Amino acid sequence: MKALVVFESFFGNTEKIANAVAGGLAARGEVTVRKVADLRPEELKTFDLVVVGSPTRGFQPSDGTKALLKALPAGTLQGVKVAAFDTRMDVKEVNNAFLTFMEKIFGYAAEPIGRALVKAGGTLVGKPQGYFVHGSEGPLWDGELERAAAWGEQLVG
Ligand SMILES: Cc1cc2nc3c(=O)[nH]c(=O)nc-3n(C[C@H](O)[C@H](O)[C@H](O)COP(=O)(O)O)c2cc1C
Repeated sequence: MKALVVFESFFGNTEKIANAVAGGLAARGEVTVRKVADLRPEELKTFDLVVVGSPTRGFQPSDGTKALLKALPAGTLQGVKVAAFDTRMDVKEVNNAFLTFMEKIFGYAAEPIGRALVKAGGTLVGKPQGYFVHGSEGPLWDGELERAAAWGEQLVG
C-alpha cells in the first residue's frame, strides 16, 4: 500500500501529528509525508491512501489545505482511500463564550476535509479525527501523538 500524509502546519503541531500518523501507517507499506505547499494536486491520485491534515483556523481548514482541496476536480480520487485529521484548541481552555458558541455551529477542519475528499471521489476510511493543542501554538496535549499513531495503524488495519 502506497500512502501519503499531506499537511499544513504553522507552529509544528500538525506536522508532528502527520509524522505520528505516518508511523502508524508504516506498519503496512510505503508512506510519504509532504507539506501541502510541496505537493501538486494531481499527485494525490498516484497513492492508494491519502491522509490530509490541517490546523483548524477560523473553524475551517487552513488556506493551503483549502487550496489543495479546491484543486481536486470531482472524480479525481476515484479508487483512492482517504482520511482526514485536524489540530485544534480546546475552546473550554480559552473560556470564551463567543468562541464556544461559534465552535458548536461551525466546528473544526477535519469533517469538511473528509467531505471534500469524498466529493473528489475518495472512499473515506476511518472517522475524521481532531488532535488538541494547548492555546494556538501548542504544545500538543499529552497522549495525542500516541493516539495519532494508533489511528494511522487502524486506517490500514
Ligand atoms: C489565526 C488562527 C485561527 C485559529 N482558529 C481556530 C479555530 O477556529 N478553532 C480551533 O479549534 N483552533 C483555532 N486555532 C488554533 C489552531 O488550531 C492551532 O494554532 C493549530 O492547531 C496549531 O497547529 P500548527 O502548529 O500545525 O500550526 C487558530 C489559530 C490561529 C493562529
